[in-house]
Parts: sequence; structure tokens; C-alpha cells
Amino acid sequence: MADTTAAEPATAPAPAAENETSTTAPAPAPAPAPANDATAVAPALPKPEGETLCEVCSEPSKLTCPKCKALGLPPAFYCGKKCFPSAWPVHKKLHKKNKPKPDPRLQLFDRYSFTGPLRPFPMTAQVRKLPKSIDVPDYAVTGIPVSEDSARSSRSIEIKTPEQIEALRRVCKLGREVLDIASAAIKVGVTADAIDKVVLKACIERNCYPSPLNYRRFPKAVCVSVNEVICHGIPDMRPLQDGDIVNLDVTVFKEGVHADLNETFLVGNVDEDSVALVKTAYECLRAAVRLVKPKEFYRNLGTPIEKVARQNKCSVVTSYCGHGIGTLFHTSPNVPHYRRNKAIGKMKPGHVFTIEPMINRGRSSDQTWPDNWTSVTRDGKRSAQFEHTMLVTENGVELLTARVGAPSTHMPPFDPKVYQR
Ligand code: MF3
Ligand code: CO
Ligand code: CO
Repeated sequence: MADTTAAEPATAPAPAAENETSTTAPAPAPAPAPANDATAVAPALPKPEGETLCEVCSEPSKLTCPKCKALGLPPAFYCGKKCFPSAWPVHKKLHKKNKPKPDPRLQLFDRYSFTGPLRPFPMTAQVRKLPKSIDVPDYAVTGIPVSEDSARSSRSIEIKTPEQIEALRRVCKLGREVLDIASAAIKVGVTADAIDKVVLKACIERNCYPSPLNYRRFPKAVCVSVNEVICHGIPDMRPLQDGDIVNLDVTVFKEGVHADLNETFLVGNVDEDSVALVKTAYECLRAAVRLVKPKEFYRNLGTPIEKVARQNKCSVVTSYCGHGIGTLFHTSPNVPHYRRNKAIGKMKPGHVFTIEPMINRGRSSDQTWPDNWTSVTRDGKRSAQFEHTMLVTENGVELLTARVGAPSTHMPPFDPKVYQR
């Protein structure tokens, strides 16, 4: 990318007139001197309040440094004479020192060739303080989920105790509330950053930790994935646009367990093809949920997902999988969403895991933005996703993150009205 920053001038730039109100208005004509009255003594005018003085000679100031003004720095005042040029060599160093720093995330994209139309926007600062009453997971400070990493090699699938199951039921209900509150804030013009703040507030009100926050250094409380973003979108200042599809992936942590769910919403007038994509992603999850029961193999879940995707001329992302969940955010079993996978394990009552198929309009391949998080489609076409956390019961499945008023044993058919914003 060409360097567009102007070179620092060697000499002081033309100063801006002090107290100017507009950059285009002509300067008012000076008041005419009283005519033919050499003896008239001008009444002593009171000094205008807060009159400013030249930084160098302390005479009343007549101008301010234009560069400071352009940079939004506090004004530097000078008299109308030589003081500004003479102060310049030292003064100009202030400009360099106080130059607004370019967003470090945006700098990463300097030479990046985007796969689709979406662009990153500036991010706000990361939240570092939460109320003391909120229990935090092990990675909250360091960014490293030590317990998750040490359990990684283990392929055994934990059977949850009745107490853990009760905690998971409660926390999943809170996760559902947070997603419902956050998704109610979705509309044209709202930024993902604003939605992140809604999620954070809703979590705090429920004494929950927003699990994404600092998980492997993820910088925000929720993943917001727009259009061609497959997953792990970082909330930034981009306003949602009419026609966007936007996935909110909420995970909360309380009572020592995580609850993970996501849904994709339609912003304003979404084209037919994109509505069909969102519906397909929903129906893929719904078809997989129907299979969940004791003695079923985890490897079989990909078959109905891929069938529904193909029937609708969509593809299934293979780089990200569903996962066991509980004390750990991500643990065994690994749950691929594509067919002919080699996933280990057979479902047993007391297993808790997610299914979260990511479905693409075009090809299945993904690529990660240089922010190391945002996963996008390689062909730039759109992607949609739905996710539930579920429990294997004695005779089937309990959707722990079911919608309020919806059954917990199965998903109702897709209703676009539910996801319209
Ligand atoms: N919620 C995601 C999932 O479904 C994980 C997000 S990890 C984060 O597994 F760090 F990006 F938040
Ligand atoms: Co999730
Ligand atoms: Co998940």
C-alpha cells in the first residue's frame, strides 16, 4: 500500500487565525478608524476574558498552530510575529509525540488481499476489569487455558454428575438469555462493538464471565461474524448494513461450567439466497440433533449435516468442529460436521457437547485474517451457523440452550421471522 502520510514540513505551516469559526468564511473587515477626530480617545476596552498569550513572548496571541488543530491537540498560541517560526523546531516534536496511533489491528491488513467485500474496522479498548464477584476461568488473566491444554490428549468423554448437569442447565439458560438480549440489539447501523457491550453487561448482571474474553487472547466478550465470516469475528466499529447476515456466538461461564450457543440473524432486507443459506445452516443443526441418543457414534453426526447442505447447494466447513463442554470450554469429544470423518466415541447418557455446523454458500475452504481470529470463506461468499449445547439423556437429547418456549427434545422447523431484525 502506498504511503499517503504527508511529509513533515521543514518550516512552520501557515498559521490558523485564532478564534476562527469556519474555514470558509471570509475574515470580517477591520472596524474603520473614527474619521476626522484625532482627539477622540478610544475607551479602554476590557480584555476579553480568557485572552491567550503567545507561548514565546507572552504578547496577546493572534494565531494557533494549524497542525495541532488538524491533529485534534490542544491549541498552541503564538503572537503574530516571529515567535511561531522560531518555536517550530521544538514545537513540531509535540505533533510526532501525540500523533493518534493507527489501530494496530488495521495495520495488520496493509498487504492483505481480502477474499470478499467485508473489511475490518477500528476496535475499542479491551475490557480488563469485571466485578470481583464473578468467578473467572483459568485463562482469564494469562490467555492460556491451562486445564484445557492439559486435557487435550485425553480422548475419554466425561460423564457429567447430576450436580454438574444441574449447573449446566442453569448456566445454559443464562447463556440463552444473553444471546436473546444481544440479538434484540441487532439492527441497521448498530456496531458489533455495541453488541459486545450489551453481551458484557448482560453477563455481568447474571454474574457470568463472558467465556471468549481473553480465551487464547480473543479480545472481546462475544464472537460476531458477518456475511463471509465463518466464525470468530472480533467485534469492531463497523455499522451493520441492510442485507447483512450476522452470527452471534455467546459463551458464558458460571458455577464452574461453560454454556455455548449461537444463531445467525437477518439484518433488514436480506437477499433470498442468503435467507436460504441461514435456513440451511439451521436445518443442518436440526438434522444432526435428531440423531443424538445413547449408543450413536459421534462420527455419524456429519452425515445428515452434509446431506442437508448439499441438497441446498451449500458446503460444510471442515476446519472447525463441535466439542465437549463443561468445566472446559473445548474438550472431547471432537464433533466434525462433515461425513466420513474419524471422530472418536459413542454417545452415553451424561455426555454434554455442542453441534455447530458452519455452512457456506460457495466452497467449504476457509482462511484466517491476519488478526489470527477472523475466519472467512476463501471464495468470499457468505457463511452461516447455528449452535446448541446439549445433553445426551437416557432416551435421546436435551437441548440445554433451547429457545424459551421451544421444546428441549428437538428443534422446531426454521422460521425466518424469529431471526429477522
Ligand atoms: N464459541 C465458540 C465455539 O462455539 C468459540 C469461540 S472462542 C473465541 O466454540 F475465543 F473466539 F471466543
Ligand atoms: Co460457540
Ligand atoms: Co462451540
